Amino acid sequence: GKAEPLKVIISGAPASGKGTQCELITQKYGLVHIAAGDLLRAEVAAASENGKLAKEYMEKGELVPNEIVVMMVKERLLQPDSQQRGWLLDGYPRSSSQAAALEDYGIRPDLFILLDVSEDILVERVVGRRLDPLTGKIYHLKYSPPENDEIASRLTQRFDDTEEKVKLRLRTHHQNVDAVLSVYKDITVKVNGNEAKEHVFAQIHAALTHVGEQRKVNSGSL
Ligand code: AP5
Repeated sequence: GKAEPLKVIISGAPASGKGTQCELITQKYGLVHIAAGDLLRAEVAAASENGKLAKEYMEKGELVPNEIVVMMVKERLLQPDSQQRGWLLDGYPRSSSQAAALEDYGIRPDLFILLDVSEDILVERVVGRRLDPLTGKIYHLKYSPPENDEIASRLTQRFDDTEEKVKLRLRTHHQNVDAVLSVYKDITVKVNGNEAKEHVFAQIHAALTHVGEQRKVNSGSL
């Protein structure tokens, strides 16, 4: 029979390169990219009740309450496209209770990718990050500069991308990361995220290829 679609979680500190790697992974594997931060920013942009509340927490670099985040992510995971093509979950779970919610729904990934990046590099990445509101593409003034002046002139910056705010986001990350990692220990691959994005992707590609091979062995088709 046809193999089950891939299910992947990608995690790492703020600005460790999750979104950048997700662009590369979805191009190659066709998985549905589900980013908790993007879903929340869409609520903020829509000025919904949830969005207004979420923004207060995002401004402080704190976790948005589970009442908003858990259902939002679960509903996206259970959409037909995610179920058919497989999914790549980015920025969730960020606490033991969020991980427990996934386990309770029987949602378990095949692979948990942890991007490991040193703190001085994280700050530089945050401060130089820019976004193209038209295409959603992630840029960096130094490491991934825009292709032309037209794109350069329309780039925007995220409201939480200041040196001060990233320190708060990092503190939240450090408070929660160990509890999340312990849930996925047996399926975690740690990737050196300090390198250029193509080199980071090569490590992820190797890990995903390995998972694919294992699944063939286990299903008896190899
Ligand atoms: P979220 O949007 O998830 O932000 P984050 O975790 O802080 O991660 P970022 O999106 O900042 O970074 P990234 O790892 O995707 O890096 P990127 O690829 O852009 O969350 C925002 C907020 O929402 C949270 O603070 C919280 O309040 C709330 N929230 C989200 N999820 C939640 C949850 N589950 N529960 C509760 N609240 C939640 O790269 C960064 C920059 O570096 C870019 O400019 C890029 O071009 C550059 N770059 C990337 N890779 C490389 C490389 N290899 N070399 C050089 N430059 C690189």
